[in-house]
Amino acid sequence: MARHEFDADRYAAASTHQTEWGERLIAELDIAGDEHVLDIGCGDGRLTAQIAQLVPRGRVLGIDASSGMIDAAKVNGAPNCDFRVLDAGQLDMPGQFDLIFSNAALHWVKDHGRLLHATFDALRPGGVIRFNFAADGNCSHLIEVVRDLMADPAHANGFDGFDWPWFMPSPEGYEALVRVHPFREASVWGENADREFPSVEDMVRWIDQPSLVPFLSHLPDAARPPFRDAVVERMVARAGREDGTCFETFRRVNVLATK
Ligand SMILES: C[S@@+](CC[C@H](N)C(=O)[O-])C[C@H]1O[C@@H](n2cnc3c(N)ncnc32)[C@H](O)[C@@H]1O
Repeated sequence: MARHEFDADRYAAASTHQTEWGERLIAELDIAGDEHVLDIGCGDGRLTAQIAQLVPRGRVLGIDASSGMIDAAKVNGAPNCDFRVLDAGQLDMPGQFDLIFSNAALHWVKDHGRLLHATFDALRPGGVIRFNFAADGNCSHLIEVVRDLMADPAHANGFDGFDWPWFMPSPEGYEALVRVHPFREASVWGENADREFPSVEDMVRWIDQPSLVPFLSHLPDAARPPFRDAVVERMVARAGREDGTCFETFRRVNVLATK
C-alpha cells in the first residue's frame, strides 16, 4: 500500500471543509467521558484533541501513515492523546477501543475488507465505529481532469505503474461490506456535501494539499510542475464560476456500527 507524505501546515490551511465535517461528527458522538478512542488517519491531530476533551477520564490514540502529520499532531494534541505513525492497513489491536473514529481519511485506504475486519476486532464488546469518508461521485471535476491529463501523451509516460490512490464506494456497496461483520447494529448512509470554494486560491490550496500529493509524488521532479499547472488550469476552467467562486462535488459515506 502506498504511503504519502503530507505537509501538515499546508493541510491546515486547506482543510476547512474536512474540519467542519469532523466537528459535526464529534458533536454527534454519544460519549460518557471514560472511553478509549482510536482516531484513524488523524492527520494533524486537531480533531483528535477535540475528541480527547470529551473523554477526560479516557484516552485517544491517533494513528496516521504520514510522519509529518504525526509530528504536527504531537504538537496539537492534548495530555490524554497518544499519536503513532501507523498505516491503517496494518491495524492489529484486538479488543482495545470503545470508539473508532475516522474523518475524511478512509478513502485513502484501499482494502476495506481487511480494515473492517481489523476495526471490528479492535473494538471492545459494545464499542462503536463512526466513519465519514469520500463516496462514489466525490470530487467529480478533479477526478475527471486528473484522469484526462494522465491519459494525455504529454503526461502519460510518468504514470506507468501508478496505483490509483482512492477507494470511493457507493453507500450501498459499502453497506454490503459492513454487513459481512457481525455488528449488533449498523447504519451506512450517503451524504451530499457539495461545496463552493470562496475563491480560486482556496480551491488551488485544496488541489495542492492533499489532493495532488499521490500523483505528483509518482512523477519525476521535472514532470511535476507541468502536470500540477495543467490540473489547476483545467480545474479553474471546469469548476470556476463567473463570480470568482469554484464548485466541486463532495459525496460522503457515513458508517455508524456497534459491536
Ligand atoms: C484529509 S486528511 C484528514 C485528517 C483528519 N482526520 C481531519 O479530518 O482533519 C487524511 C489523512 O489520512 C491519512 N492517511 C492516508 N492513508 C492512510 C493510511 N493508509 N493509514 C493511515 N492514515 C492514512 C493521511 O496521511 C492524512 O493525514
